[in-house]
Amino acid sequence: MTSLLQNGGFISHFHEIPDIQNSDPVNIEGGSMNTEKQHIRYKTIVYIICLVAALGGLLFGLDQGFIANSLETIERHYKFGIEGGQQYSAILATGGIIGALLSGIFARFLGRKRSLVFAGFIFTAASAYSALLPSIAILSACRFALGFGVGVASFIVPLYLSETAPAKIRGSMGTLFQLMITIGIFLISLSNVFIARAFVNPTTSLPLMFLTVALFAALMFFGSFILPESPRWLMLKGRKENAIEVLRRTLNSEEEINNEIQEIEEALHGPKGAGIGIVFKGYFFKVLVIGILLQVFQQLVGINMMIYYAPTIFGYAGLTGLLAMMTVPTVNMLFTFPAIHLVERWGRKKLLYVGAASMLITMIAAGIAFQSIGTVSDPSMIGGTPKMILLISVIIYIFGFAVSWGPVVWLVCSEIFPLEGREVGMTITTMVNWTFAGLVMGHALTFMKTYGNASIFYLFATFCVLAIVFVALFVPETKGITLEELELNLKNGVKLRDLGNVNNAASPTESEA
Ligand code: BGC
Repeated sequence: MTSLLQNGGFISHFHEIPDIQNSDPVNIEGGSMNTEKQHIRYKTIVYIICLVAALGGLLFGLDQGFIANSLETIERHYKFGIEGGQQYSAILATGGIIGALLSGIFARFLGRKRSLVFAGFIFTAASAYSALLPSIAILSACRFALGFGVGVASFIVPLYLSETAPAKIRGSMGTLFQLMITIGIFLISLSNVFIARAFVNPTTSLPLMFLTVALFAALMFFGSFILPESPRWLMLKGRKENAIEVLRRTLNSEEEINNEIQEIEEALHGPKGAGIGIVFKGYFFKVLVIGILLQVFQQLVGINMMIYYAPTIFGYAGLTGLLAMMTVPTVNMLFTFPAIHLVERWGRKKLLYVGAASMLITMIAAGIAFQSIGTVSDPSMIGGTPKMILLISVIIYIFGFAVSWGPVVWLVCSEIFPLEGREVGMTITTMVNWTFAGLVMGHALTFMKTYGNASIFYLFATFCVLAIVFVALFVPETKGITLEELELNLKNGVKLRDLGNVNNAASPTESEA
């Protein structure tokens, strides 16, 4: 069973992915179940557990994807301009940072179940209150709270799953959570388009948009009440009898229950997580820098400019309608599926190269398209060629991200930290992710306005180049090596780039500075 310590950071659903490399392909390939596995029975409660987990991921996506197709409606009602719109979008990230920081405390003291109920409540209350169209200050506070909920849920849901769902389906649940984020982005984009078209008046459409999020949030809130508490947390609190009761509900035989209890007991007596002081240990600091820079680049290639502002940017080039509103979320969702296979087949680094190269070329192409548009102020006067180049560039760009930097960065961050510092490492790198996401969300449009529409594309292209160089020089290939071997390599002083070489595990090489 995945240890508590292995689940320590925001969006740690990706923590489940490493298990895939060492576990049965049933979790990823779907079709390769052997006969024995096909006969595994899951109890109703297991389905409920999976459903609530799926809702956690979906809510993340609903909040992240909310802005793109609602910004115009929000603007018509609140009239807060480009600056205000960006600030409103970006405050989600601030909430996410704080939620991620505090979620470990909630998980430990409130328990997993009560933390989930709490996150569900925050989601429901903040989205329902936003539907009342309060003042800008309160509306922004609600978005901050939504971010906070995302931060908490993204930590607790995977942690809860890894402790409660039967081992056989843990891997696929991790994948499900990740996919649900992109599905959430897609669904809210779609429903916001339809609501905006059906109800022109923002005082009707905007509440409906918020209520759509509230509906799923309420499902998660009420769903969380019927969940059992995590057996591992109960054991942590010395409540073995209660833990056994829960395991009776999720597992099929006394033998399975005894094995699970034994495993939990062993894990609880095993090494405890290190405190923040571990960042001062040389070997940890080195991988921490790798994780931080991967997250920085994941955001500075510009993904959230597209997720948040694609309709606005397409609008600058005279592209409007469904194409402008639905291209990004659709491509993003569709290409997350192949990533799950490719990450094990091609490896992490190859995917990162392919992704960064696709994004580099398409960012330059999009920049050129905008440059050719120049200062044409009437979008209807813009020719078909730049529009076409822009559209194709964005499609390939999103493909490049969804198939690589989107999932792979989270995956590598969940793999590179030694067990005792995984919680600290994941939390710090996750907070870095949100900090830079907020930076992009909060400044992308102003940057375009100040330096010209093409400028930001060239800026992101530059980060793609730096990202490629960084991956080539420092990032290890973590495919096909166990987390224990990685850790051994790291502590033996193997070069960062070579950490994933299995044969290095036993033979230390020259230490890096
Ligand atoms: C990123 C998010 C982004 C999402 C898009 C994630 O991997 O961390 O910032 O919005 O992908 O699918």
